[in-house]
Amino acid sequence: LSDHPLQGKKVLVTAGPTQESLDPVRFLTNHSSGKMGYSIARAAFILGAKVRLIHGPTSLKPVPYIINQSITSAQDLFECVKRHHTHYDYIIMSAAVADYTPVETSTEKIKKNDNELILKLKKNPDILDYIGHHQVEHQVICGFAMETQDLIENASKKLNKKQCDLIIANHLKTEGAGFQGDTNVVTIITQESMKDIDKMSKSDLSYIILKECMKIGAKK
Ligand code: C5P
Repeated sequence: LSDHPLQGKKVLVTAGPTQESLDPVRFLTNHSSGKMGYSIARAAFILGAKVRLIHGPTSLKPVPYIINQSITSAQDLFECVKRHHTHYDYIIMSAAVADYTPVETSTEKIKKNDNELILKLKKNPDILDYIGHHQVEHQVICGFAMETQDLIENASKKLNKKQCDLIIANHLKTEGAGFQGDTNVVTIITQESMKDIDKMSKSDLSYIILKECMKIGAKK
């Protein structure tokens, strides 16, 4: 491999959580820190790629020398990805997209009256599924999977259902893995192989993920 194996390539990375508004002061979100996605975006730049990082609300500094684009909701992310996905050689979907969003966003603050409050939610579009089914020629698409049960089985199903080339299955319950930390423990699943990766920094892991993506890219 050359020093800059992604020279001339374009990489789109999504990162961080989404926020789904309930009213002007409240939202639904998750624990994603964005660290994994930001780290992949930085690594892709170092390997020579032109990079666009589309991210939800995080406390991280923008990655220098790349396009940093911020979004709030899953719907925002969907629209942003739809505008750009066909122009990219590699798409890494590490964002923790909310599966559901409120049916209605109240324009006024929701008052506390009754002892119970029932929220009605509707399903968000599955962005990875959309780009997987609208994949352009030679494009490599990498998704992530976080499950608390039957991780590998569910991640393998996701690979086929969402038509992506790789799934990074995140061992959420293992020490040193998951949302907020600087390390991760994953299994990289492709159509041909399944590789367990021991605990390592999200930075080192980024290069391994990109290398696996490039291996698939070279065959396309
Ligand atoms: O189905 P599940 O949410 O477990 O799949 C996770 C993968 O799908 C991640 O790569 C995530 O970025 C993506 N995803 C998405 N749109 C959604 C939900 C998840 O793109 N609405």
